[in-house]
Amino acid sequence: MSLSGKRIVITGGATGIGLATTRLAVERGAQVVITGRTEATLKAAAESVGPGVEYRVLDVTDPEAVERVLAAVGPFDHLVTGAAEIVAGPFVELPEADARSLFETKFWGQYRAAKAAVAHIAPDGSILFFSGYLYRKAEAGFSGFAAVNGAVEGLVKALAIELAPLRVNAISPGQIDVFEGRWDAESHAKYRADVSAALPAGRPGTPEEAAHAVLYLLENTFTTGTTLDVDGGK
Ligand SMILES: NC(=O)c1ccc[n+]([C@@H]2O[C@H](COP(=O)([O-])OP(=O)(O)OC[C@H]3O[C@@H](n4cnc5c(N)ncnc54)[C@H](OP(=O)(O)O)[C@@H]3O)[C@@H](O)[C@H]2O)c1
Repeated sequence: MSLSGKRIVITGGATGIGLATTRLAVERGAQVVITGRTEATLKAAAESVGPGVEYRVLDVTDPEAVERVLAAVGPFDHLVTGAAEIVAGPFVELPEADARSLFETKFWGQYRAAKAAVAHIAPDGSILFFSGYLYRKAEAGFSGFAAVNGAVEGLVKALAIELAPLRVNAISPGQIDVFEGRWDAESHAKYRADVSAALPAGRPGTPEEAAHAVLYLLENTFTTGTTLDVDGGK
C-alpha cells in the first residue's frame, strides 16, 4: 500500500525515530500529524519537515486528552505510537512509582491511543506499536523496559486477531542513536564505542533506519501481528 495521500498520526513524532518516520512518510506523500507534550518542540519539528505536517499537543498519560485529540484529528489511515520515556535503574533500588510511570507512558499510552484510534482509523490501515530490544535481549538495570516491551508484544499479537482486518504490528528497535546533543560529548562517544563493539553491524542504528522499518510495516498489507527487530544483528 502506497502512503501517498494517507493520513498518519505519530505520537512522540517530534523527536528521534518518530521525527525520522515523519520525514520519510512526508517524502512518500503522506500527511502526518505529530503529537507530544512540548509545543515548542512540535512546532520546530513541523517547520523542519515543511508542508505535510501538522501538530497537536498531547500527553498520552491523559486518557481524556488522547480520546479528544484523536477524535479531532480523525479520520486517519495509520497510527504510530512512539511516545515513551526512559526509566532505568537496579531492580531493588528503582522506586515502584518510577516503574509504574514507565508503564503509564509506554504501555498504557500506546494501549489507550490504539483504543481511541479504532473509531477513526481506516479498516485497511494499521496501528504500529513500539517495543524494544530489552525484552528479548535483557540487560541489568532495565527490568522495567523488559516488562513493558513484553507486554506490548503480547498486546500486538492479540489485537492483530481481534481488530482484523485492521493490521497491528510493532517495531522493536535495537540501539538507535537518538542521543547526540542530548548527552554530553564524552558520554555519547562512550555509548557509540560500546555499542559499536557489541553489535555485528559495528555501530548504533540511525533513526532513519528504524523509520524505514516502520514504513515497511505500514505499507506491507500482508504483515500483521508481527514484531520486527531492527537491531544491527544482536
Ligand atoms: N532509541 C533507542 O535506542 C530505542 C531502543 C529501543 C526502543 N526504543 C523505543 O522507540 C520509541 C521512540 O523512542 P526514541 O528513541 O525515538 O526516543 P525519543 O526521541 O525520546 O522519543 C520519545 C518521544 O516521546 C514523547 N513523549 C514522552 N513522554 C510523553 C508523554 N507522556 N506523552 C506524549 N509524548 C511523550 C517525547 O516528547 P515530549 O517529551 O516533548 O513529550 C519524545 O518526542 C520509544 O518507544 C522507545 O522506547 C528506542
